[in-house]
Amino acid sequence: MRRRPDEETLQSLVEMAVAVRKRAHAPYSNYLVGAALLTTKGSVHVGCNVENASYGATICAERAAVTAMVASGERHPIVCALVTGGAEPVAPCGICRQVLVEFAPDLLLVLVAVRGKQRVRRETTLGALLPEAFRLL
Ligand code: THU
Repeated sequence: MRRRPDEETLQSLVEMAVAVRKRAHAPYSNYLVGAALLTTKGSVHVGCNVENASYGATICAERAAVTAMVASGERHPIVCALVTGGAEPVAPCGICRQVLVEFAPDLLLVLVAVRGKQRVRRETTLGALLPEAFRLL
């Protein structure tokens, strides 16, 4: 990652992920996920999980956010805020790690669990979660 954004920026990124999580379409799992990507230009791109009756057609929140980012002409995320329910934050699934690494091998991940008014937050990096990622050389 370049320079770590200040705490206020990270908090507002988390709030955007909290907000978009409420728009998730998750009638099968009832597991709502929100993601917000902050880019080098300072713009934010959000995504939520969109499930499908044909379960394999489901798209995760992180990949939805990447799609929105690329469609708007940006390719350099520096932070991904990921918001889920439950007691503990969770890390992106394997497919999303691979999709994220395409654009930012050293992405900072801010993982937040929301349960009522309670929030638990932790940080990690994509490099820590997906060492030796596949790349076409
Ligand atoms: N999900 C995400 O949105 N991101 C992940 O990294 C893992 C899983 C979604 C997919 C599905 O709608 C629900 O969470 C349960 O797997």
